Amino acid sequence: MRTKIYMLIICLAAPFLTVSAQEINLAHGWKFRIGDSSAWALPPYNDSGWKTADVSKTWEQQGYPQTDGFGWYRVHQLIPSSLKEKAFLKDSLHFDLGYLDDGGEVYLNGKLVYKNWKTGDIKSGLYGPGSFSVSVNDPALHWDEENVIAVRLFDTGGNGGVYGDKFDIKMTDVMDNVTISTDGDFYYGEKSLGKAIKLKATGGNYNYAGRLSFKVTDPETDTIVYQKTNPANFTAHRPFTYTFTIARLDKKSYRITYTFTDEHSGKQISKTEGTPYILTPYVKAKPRINGPDVFGERPGNPFLYRIPATGQKPLVYKADGLPSGLTLDAATGIISGVADTKGDYAVAFTVSNKLGSSTKKFTIKIGELIGLTPALGWNSWNAWGLTVNDQKVRTSANAMADKLSAHGWMYINIDDGWEAANRNANGEILTNAKFPDMKGLTDYVHSLGLRMGIYSSPGPKTCGGYLGSWQHEGQDAKTYGDWGIDYLKYDWCSYSEVTSSRPTLDDMKKPYQLMRASLDKVHRDILFSFCQYGMGDVWNWGGQVGGNSWRTTGDIEDTWKSMSTIGFSQDKTAEGAKPGHFNDPDMLVVGKVGWGDSQHNTRLTPDEQYTHISLWSLLSSPLLIGCDMGHLDPFTLSLLTNDEVLAIDQDALGREARQTAKKDDYQVWTKELEDGSKAVGIFNTSDKYQLIKLNKADAGLGGYTKVRDVWQQKYLITAAGEFVTKVPPHGVVLVRVSK
Ligand code: GAL
Repeated sequence: MRTKIYMLIICLAAPFLTVSAQEINLAHGWKFRIGDSSAWALPPYNDSGWKTADVSKTWEQQGYPQTDGFGWYRVHQLIPSSLKEKAFLKDSLHFDLGYLDDGGEVYLNGKLVYKNWKTGDIKSGLYGPGSFSVSVNDPALHWDEENVIAVRLFDTGGNGGVYGDKFDIKMTDVMDNVTISTDGDFYYGEKSLGKAIKLKATGGNYNYAGRLSFKVTDPETDTIVYQKTNPANFTAHRPFTYTFTIARLDKKSYRITYTFTDEHSGKQISKTEGTPYILTPYVKAKPRINGPDVFGERPGNPFLYRIPATGQKPLVYKADGLPSGLTLDAATGIISGVADTKGDYAVAFTVSNKLGSSTKKFTIKIGELIGLTPALGWNSWNAWGLTVNDQKVRTSANAMADKLSAHGWMYINIDDGWEAANRNANGEILTNAKFPDMKGLTDYVHSLGLRMGIYSSPGPKTCGGYLGSWQHEGQDAKTYGDWGIDYLKYDWCSYSEVTSSRPTLDDMKKPYQLMRASLDKVHRDILFSFCQYGMGDVWNWGGQVGGNSWRTTGDIEDTWKSMSTIGFSQDKTAEGAKPGHFNDPDMLVVGKVGWGDSQHNTRLTPDEQYTHISLWSLLSSPLLIGCDMGHLDPFTLSLLTNDEVLAIDQDALGREARQTAKKDDYQVWTKELEDGSKAVGIFNTSDKYQLIKLNKADAGLGGYTKVRDVWQQKYLITAAGEFVTKVPPHGVVLVRVSK
């Protein structure tokens, strides 16, 4: 009956259905319910009593707060054979079902056709696109009939569900098997910029033959500044490489568009990327001391701080006024030892080389408060996901020591995936084969003057399905102490299975209080980073429960939508930030990311990356690099080593920026700084160049006469009453204003 009605609607709509005749929009008609039953996969099951699901939203966003665990979605859909008839390739049907968050299984008329987990079970599934193909001959596919698509889902915690922008079914197109790979690095010549890109077929036997057009556009004027077309042929076995060199033009990002046209099918595929441009000035040969102005450690615990300084090597370090018990290695700048006496110590660091010397006043606070400024470090997750191992951590530590520690970067944090499957007979946690010697690894990281972080969950299992600390909190804290761990990220995950299904505020605090008490028994300063995705407005209480930072959101992705939605929604959290306690809008997505073994260049444009680093610094967020540090290209490195930008993040006042203007196409965020100046980010949220004009009095900047462009590290000449600046699409101008 239902089938016939659909047929009728399709016939009536036929005249204007040309697009939908080749593509079925699946964004509507979904139903869902919480729970789990294998019967819900089967077509005859009657789901008419289920709730209507809005698949543009997570469970939580559609009014089901803290819905974790199992749930199912179902939709009934006619699939007309005209789709197949009109297609150029007639091999398979492609389904896009938004994102599955976290573990997901898709059943087509009762048959499992896709799952996002490989080992274990659905609980180890990792959220990601619900994107897959089904052969046109698959008996599960019922052409010209109603099909029941059912999704079984397991959400480990935080936001969950089946949701996203892209819900459709279409025949796999000849271009669906083609990727334009732009993941190579840009080559920076003196006056030129170059790159090699690849056209690849990811499957099938088709011979692609046609042309690749390469176009460089100035986004400010929308004019094409360079254009070239080349023949291009490739197959699944033989990629095509195109190498170009263009003159480096002005200091801004140009838009490059690569378009391949296949002659036989007439189909096209395009990809666009922005050229990188570096604003951070070159590091000077004369010594300069970077990093925060203040550092806290608890009395009686091991002290470790490497004085961050740039300048031509060799550098010689000196520190006057160190608390007793601490010593400085004059050749490496590493301060270590144990200080027993509480107090604020006014220290003077001096760093010299053959070109001169530089001195900086610094305060060491020996007391109960640690993590006085947001953590600067690296975390394995956004780069390596569960494939992290000892070697990757060492590579990152070496890169941090060589290239970043001179700017204050300090933490090397292992995320999920280090834990063994079982505890030992005493119940102690063990590492898996990827980490043969955690103590040895930690010693190595410490020998570089860096600190080491680790990850666990208060639940029985972590989000990646590894062992959590449930009922072993004290033991795990002790093990971390024995290994020499300095930072713990504690991720809610399966804790939802062992607490109430509707946790109260007390329920939410409990696992964090328990681990805090366990960490306090260890004679190390272990920064405590909560990861529970902002539940219960954690920014209002995370500090009281002993958090040094707490995630305020779900997981970030390397897209403008994800980064900007998270970053620009933090105003509500601002009051929660203070020295020792910071909001964490999740880790950075610049450089090569991948959440697993294969890495790609971040999908953020260069200007979006400037926005990301500027906004996170204004928000006093922990800055945790999430990329493959073995491959830091010059642009990424320039983003992470701008000392004046980092100084905004590391400002000792510990305030978070407030949103001081929000218009349709731009926003202004302003942060109070310790010296009475203000950091102001003017963000263009539109996709066009804009001239943004701030009336200084309206913007709360009346009387602030000096305006310094922080990325370029130079003063700007501005008119008295206003500040006018050109801001690139999705980009920022970050200034520091003073009187
Ligand atoms: C997520 C968390 C990520 C990462 C992952 C590990 O819940 O938000 O940052 O830690 O778990 O499985």
